[in-house]
Amino acid sequence: MDDIRNIVILTGAGISAESGLATFRGPDGLWEGHRVEDVCTPEALARDAALVHRFYDERRAKLADVRPNAAHEALAALDAQWPGELLIVTQNVDDLHERAGAKRLIHMHGELRSALCAGCGKAKRWTEALPPGSVCDGCGRALLRPDIVFFGEMPYEMDAIDDALRRADLFVSVGTSGAVYPAAGFVQTARHVGARTLELNLEPSAGSFYFEESRMGAASVLVPELVRELLG
Ligand code: OAD
Repeated sequence: MDDIRNIVILTGAGISAESGLATFRGPDGLWEGHRVEDVCTPEALARDAALVHRFYDERRAKLADVRPNAAHEALAALDAQWPGELLIVTQNVDDLHERAGAKRLIHMHGELRSALCAGCGKAKRWTEALPPGSVCDGCGRALLRPDIVFFGEMPYEMDAIDDALRRADLFVSVGTSGAVYPAAGFVQTARHVGARTLELNLEPSAGSFYFEESRMGAASVLVPELVRELLG
């Protein structure tokens, strides 16, 4: 890894699983109990705001019971010590990366502890339940909604992510099934610009064949190992 300067790390629900947060897919996954289209689309919010708000209220409340694990901590240490460019792009809406201390971080799918004004687009830190009908105190008119990128909406900061990917020497994907685009396609951009590509996951992801190297195992073990390798 001596020739690596710029790093992009994509994380998914698997990195928070060992902290006690459910992943989306699989037998105990969040989407097993809910249809995505009932809780994670603009149409669902318009049809049944109470159900959508309750789903995210429960998940926001759960954040009080969980802590970052060794994988979040190792990435935060890498962020603090890595002299080159580094960007952690998370699909997760929990706040475990930042609680571990990560700074160079983008939440591409939004954040549970944030409320978004559906009118003016202003986001506001929000740690409690978010009652449907709450009005934005910025514009004073439109309703607040969970600050979650629903299916059919554009993820946040795609330009910044694309710029980082195009400068990357190493792209690492951690704990994601590779089922949701555009994140699932980042490996292809990284390969296109000649970056090394490495997947860390419990099992091969949907796009496993795009990665030069795959290491299978728990994020709490594999991520600290990789960080030790990178920091020498
Ligand atoms: P998934 O639930 O689809 O995938 C989680 C992945 O983590 C699976 O491949 C697991 O094998 C792996 N995994 C589980 N435990 C692990 C562990 N301890 N160590 C390493 N890997 C582990 O979650 P995501 O890929 O993050 O979007 O899902 C992507 C998006 O789909 C989410 O951001 C969400 C969802 O719909 C929105 O809500 C917008």
